[in-house]
Amino acid sequence: MRLQNKRALVTGASRGIGRAIALAFADEGADLALTARHADALADVAAAVRAKGRHAHCFAWDVSVVPQIQPRLAEVWAALGGLDIAVNNAGVVRLPKDHPNPTPEAAWDYILDINLKALHFMCEAVAKRMKEQKRGVIINLASDAGLRAAPNAYCISKWGVVGYTQGLAKLMAPHGVRVNAIAPGPVATDMMNCADGQPKDWPAGPLGRYALPEEIAPIAVFLASDDSRAVFGEVIVANSANG
Ligand SMILES: NC(=O)c1ccc[n+]([C@@H]2O[C@H](COP(=O)([O-])OP(=O)(O)OC[C@H]3O[C@@H](n4cnc5c(N)ncnc54)[C@H](OP(=O)(O)O)[C@@H]3O)[C@@H](O)[C@H]2O)c1
Repeated sequence: MRLQNKRALVTGASRGIGRAIALAFADEGADLALTARHADALADVAAAVRAKGRHAHCFAWDVSVVPQIQPRLAEVWAALGGLDIAVNNAGVVRLPKDHPNPTPEAAWDYILDINLKALHFMCEAVAKRMKEQKRGVIINLASDAGLRAAPNAYCISKWGVVGYTQGLAKLMAPHGVRVNAIAPGPVATDMMNCADGQPKDWPAGPLGRYALPEEIAPIAVFLASDDSRAVFGEVIVANSANG
């Protein structure tokens, strides 16, 4: 067990990569705080975590509502009795179909607010608390899309996540807090219209297919565990479609 009795927060834990990370953390002995906007799917993941014998606490919460971040994190800390690991996984690639303002500007704001602005305020609040306790791990979900220059909101948001992670890692390393990122290529999730598990039109990456969420989760386990105690400010790329 590489995360025995560690306490971990995973944002966007209701499906896809976040769900797989939460379950992998539970397999390694961690207790979980799970967040997403919709409570029903979160409850299913919590039940799966509990079935593995670990504690799970659900927080239905939109991470992009910045004033809620501090009070919600206080609830997370109280529920788990502290926090050792925070995974900033919640992310979006497009406006929801039912968005009231389907304009390019609204899409830009929506994607940047969730993928980058919320990640900054989450990291800032978590890092402050971890600095006080002189230990902790932060893992951010970037993307291979954030490693190629492209004039669109998603790529730019993830480009920002890469730079943000590297910068925060330097600031936090002297305080015992490790900050790293994972940059997957295409992964078979709802985000990639793969609810049925069938990859659609996208370059397949070196695996020759989309990665599965369960193939990304072990990278998060590694970064969360002491196995990576010498790893600071790195971006681990998986199945990149960048060529
Ligand atoms: N799939 C890929 O090919 C791929 C590749 C590289 C990187 N990534 C990154 O990996 C992360 C997870 O992607 P995924 O493919 O697993 O996506 P997904 O299947 O669409 O799941 C996204 C998760 O984030 C939550 N979420 C979205 N917006 C939120 C918000 N404002 N507040 C709180 N929770 C929110 C969703 O739940 P609710 O809708 O209930 O809020 C859901 O739990 C993202 O950061 C994504 O950019 C994905």
